Amino acid sequence: MTIENPEIPVIAIDGPSGSGKGTIARRVASALGLHLLDSGALYRLTALAAAGQGKLDASPEILAGIAESLNVRFSTDRQGEEQVWLNDVNVSDQLRTEESGRMASRVAALPAVRKALLGVQKDFRKAPGLVADGRDMGTTVFPDAVLKIFLTAGAAERAKRRHKQLNDKGIDVSLAALSRDIEDRDRRDSERSVAPLRPAEDARLLDSSNLTIDEVTRTILDWAKDRIIVKRI
Ligand code: C5P
Repeated sequence: MTIENPEIPVIAIDGPSGSGKGTIARRVASALGLHLLDSGALYRLTALAAAGQGKLDASPEILAGIAESLNVRFSTDRQGEEQVWLNDVNVSDQLRTEESGRMASRVAALPAVRKALLGVQKDFRKAPGLVADGRDMGTTVFPDAVLKIFLTAGAAERAKRRHKQLNDKGIDVSLAALSRDIEDRDRRDSERSVAPLRPAEDARLLDSSNLTIDEVTRTILDWAKDRIIVKRI
């Protein structure tokens, strides 16, 4: 059962793929000593778990069942890199591939799957607070977040960043294919009927196209300053 705890502060960072949310959310959480929720990983894990059972095209109910009963563990390795375990198998590399992003965006369009993951996501809200990154953190999962940020960047810039990220990992993909993929995913995420990608009414917009990671992080920490009172026990 999910126990909602509105007193625990949440910073919601939403935006399209490649806007830098993941990196920024990790930095903000670490600077403030807060927990981190990478909600995209939950959609990716659902897709991976389903694919592993040959059930990617199963009914929404079956996929929702898989989402609800995910056996996931997050850890940090010696280099400070996040490691993700599905049924005790390290799936960190598999999780970040474009293929798992595509599969995730398909299962994420199913209302039953989103509903199943709602409680899973809310359970990450633990003292002293949470930084949650995704598409609908500020609109749907944590509508009472103390600070909501909608992080954007131009599609070309996002494709360039993803390209560099993948190249650094030794993964060879064409920039054109990545741009197409990003645009397709943006469209699917913005046009779906449940929890489409859009800024919450009270979100602050931040365009990171011409900003460094440090500059974006500093801006958010500055906004968070007067909203977060971190109580250390
Ligand atoms: O953020 P990331 O690229 O890991 O997310 C993968 C996919 O999961 C997104 O393209 C989107 O379709 C879906 N997603 C979502 N809602 C979230 C986080 C991710 O629909 N809160």
